[in-house]
Amino acid sequence: MTLSRILLAGRDTQLQELVQKHAEQVFSADCISDLAELTESVAPELIILDSTVASNNVYDFLEWTKNNNIDTPVIAAGDDCPIASKNSIAMGAHDFLCGKNDYERLGSIIAKIKRCDSDAGDYFCDNCPANVEIVGKSKANQRALQLINVVAKSNCNPVLIIGETGTGKELAAKALHQVRHGSSKPFIEVNCAALTANLLESELFGHAKGSFTSADNEKMGLLELAKDGSIFLDEISEMPLDLQAKLLRVIQEKTFRKVGGTKTLQCRATIIASSNRNLIKDVQENKFRRDLYYRLSVCPITLSPLRAEDRREDIETLANFFLQTSNICPEKHGKIKGFTALAMEAIKKHSWPGNVRELKNVVDRAILLENSDKVGLSNLMLNPEAILDDAKVNVGKVIDDFSLESAEREMIARALDAAGWQKTKAASMLGITRATLYAKVKQHNLSPKSETVKQ
Ligand SMILES: Nc1ncnc2c1ncn2[C@@H]1O[C@H](COP(=O)(O)OP(=O)(O)OP(=O)(O)O)[C@@H](O)[C@H]1O
Ligand SMILES: [Mg+2]
Repeated sequence: MTLSRILLAGRDTQLQELVQKHAEQVFSADCISDLAELTESVAPELIILDSTVASNNVYDFLEWTKNNNIDTPVIAAGDDCPIASKNSIAMGAHDFLCGKNDYERLGSIIAKIKRCDSDAGDYFCDNCPANVEIVGKSKANQRALQLINVVAKSNCNPVLIIGETGTGKELAAKALHQVRHGSSKPFIEVNCAALTANLLESELFGHAKGSFTSADNEKMGLLELAKDGSIFLDEISEMPLDLQAKLLRVIQEKTFRKVGGTKTLQCRATIIASSNRNLIKDVQENKFRRDLYYRLSVCPITLSPLRAEDRREDIETLANFFLQTSNICPEKHGKIKGFTALAMEAIKKHSWPGNVRELKNVVDRAILLENSDKVGLSNLMLNPEAILDDAKVNVGKVIDDFSLESAEREMIARALDAAGWQKTKAASMLGITRATLYAKVKQHNLSPKSETVKQ
């Protein structure tokens, strides 16, 4: 991730090289007066001062930025960490790099600055890790992100992530990995439901040559490939019971052997498991090992469904985010500016049984179909059986008639009602032309007194 212009004061060559990688243009200043002058003339997006500039000068410069209302973030770097860091931050520095070992943080600091610079501030909350796009500022999302951060910074291993399908479990696993290990370490995914028991075992542990008929060569398992990064065991509930016992041993002893192998190998990876099922129910039905469940659920991270009361506000944010960032149809990029009021109302009322994935797909499909500058209701193609019932937030609305036809009729009637039967206004709310609206009114036999389907 790069910024357009970074202003650097200091002569540390390692830092100079690193900054070059993160900027299209780097401006150098030799002394503080040059720095002030360049700050005003080139309007950098970031200013970095290293320890070769006397620390008093750093403080003077920070004071100067404050007095001159310069809000460009300033990062100080130095070796005298605790004091210099504390002082610089107190004086208004954005961050402090503590010696050369800390330089690698520059990438993630820049990623965050870049995100705040764009309208991304509308989408992400402060505790969303850099390089991770977990959209949503709802209480539920903030809580989940906070927990991800706390767990990632602890030694908790394994980690269990629970949530309905499409709630973002894989994204959460990647965020946890990012905070704990950074992007340079491997993140290995394995879907426990996608492989047969034997295949899953040899994928996970690897196998020795000749350990079974088709084992012509020795194979490295995913646990080994994950090294000191993370292994993500998706849909852990689908793991066969005997393999669950073997996984438990890995968790307890941090060692394993290849199938048919004799050598003991170390497991250094963080084990992250996910489930969209209630594992405790599986335990009661003897489908999941109780001991493994307890080992996994030391500090589970639970992701709420989108329809949950404390996550519902993310629906609109996510819909706008997907509309802006979708690459389903690059030639429409930036042309579709938003949703019609009625389309957004329907989006908010939908119960999203497939959660964020369903929302992303609906927005992608709408972008493909939409030819105006706003996504209208007619291109949303929501399943009419999944309407949010305000009284019972967790239960999708059940209506007798599941046809798209009746949903369309209802939406058109509601738009007309809301627009006081002004057809131009209603057509614009629906994102369709007046001619189409006339045709639809006729087709559905609507009149000012016709009944809408009651919610
Ligand atoms: N908070 C979020 N912000 C942005 N995108 C999200 C968010 N949550 C999920 N997504 C996107 O929604 C899709 C589904 O997310 P993900 O694969 O993480 O869900 P999941 O819980 O693992 O689903 P499943 O149980 O079906 O495997 C992905 O494209 C993901 O990038
Ligand atoms: Mg998943």
